Amino acid sequence: MFSGLSPQPADGLLRLIVLHRDDPRPGKIDLGVGIYRDDDGATPVLKAVKAAEHILLETQESKSYLGADGDVGFVQLLEPIIFGAEMAGSSRLGGVQTPGGTGALRLAAELVAQSRPGARIWTGTPTWPNHAPIFAGAGLEILTHPFFDAETQRIEFGAMMNALESAEPGDVVLVHGSSHNPTGAELDEGQAEALAELCARRGLVPLIDLAYQGLGRGLEEDAGLARRLLAACDEALLAYSCDKNFGLYRERVGALWVQGQTADATQIARDNMLVVARGIWSMPPDHGAAIVRVILERPELVALWHAELDEMRDRISRLREKLAESHPLFAGAARQTGMFALLPFSPEAVTELREMHGIYMAGNGRINIAGLTEENIERFVEAAAPLLRV
Ligand code: LMR
Repeated sequence: MFSGLSPQPADGLLRLIVLHRDDPRPGKIDLGVGIYRDDDGATPVLKAVKAAEHILLETQESKSYLGADGDVGFVQLLEPIIFGAEMAGSSRLGGVQTPGGTGALRLAAELVAQSRPGARIWTGTPTWPNHAPIFAGAGLEILTHPFFDAETQRIEFGAMMNALESAEPGDVVLVHGSSHNPTGAELDEGQAEALAELCARRGLVPLIDLAYQGLGRGLEEDAGLARRLLAACDEALLAYSCDKNFGLYRERVGALWVQGQTADATQIARDNMLVVARGIWSMPPDHGAAIVRVILERPELVALWHAELDEMRDRISRLREKLAESHPLFAGAARQTGMFALLPFSPEAVTELREMHGIYMAGNGRINIAGLTEENIERFVEAAAPLLRV
């Protein structure tokens, strides 16, 4: 039976973890997979997370099942952070916990496929390489629109809007909520407003992927685009990840919300989400979501989390500034936000940087800014600048 399967290449991003780990060179630089790193190149457990884990260890009395929607308190406590105080708790919002942002995206795609046979989703070029397999796996037809030109380091807004003008009512539009992966490029206020207007006018359904809230410009600021789209459109979906902003990567902590036209429609959509979830993962893993809930229930832990999140964001911003100042070819980094920048490297240049200089980055030329340090940034610039395709 398995002879019918064809060989598969290793996942392009996850392969970098192993390649970097097995590289014995002391000066190697890891700008690959999207995890936060401190000045020592470490990804420590946040103090707020450690404190919450202690509380859980002391107080958790049962490991019995919670149900397909997971930790309901976790979902409720995230709502004001994501949707704002006014919208939090609205009967037009239905949320469930999911295994990471990836689980949320897959659940969203399955819900769309069930609601609307033949459904189509628009994704920007470029986007996170896992988006297409997730959506295709659920049976959605994927259409693409231009988003970013790595050579000019600019959003191709006109071309993007032109393409989306041809979308059909009911089409889903994937929007990165903040800190675009892989480009770091963000729509400005006017562009965000124009996109929201277009989605509302043409009856498009935004699916917002919000995986880096707080790591771009701030918790409130990073929610701005999502809130604008939700306010403009009758129906929307929001896939959320706590993996990065709580540093909980391997715990796989996420959630999916649906915004329906009415409270009843929302309830039906949420009930369908639970049926789909039951058929895939049955119930999401508890520990990471419980940690987030314990933090969000306690003002002193919220303050500690905010301070740690601010520190991560400030470090990334400082490195962005430094990279931009180090060479005119990297100037775009200062205009962008979050962990990533997409640089115009050819695949050969990416390989050369890895093999000759021990510098690891995604195959499309994406770098994780958090992997730079005050110490290694100069070496990166010296090796990388001559290889840029401009
Ligand atoms: C990334 O883009 O590097 C992260 O989101 C990790 C992943 O799962 O790809």
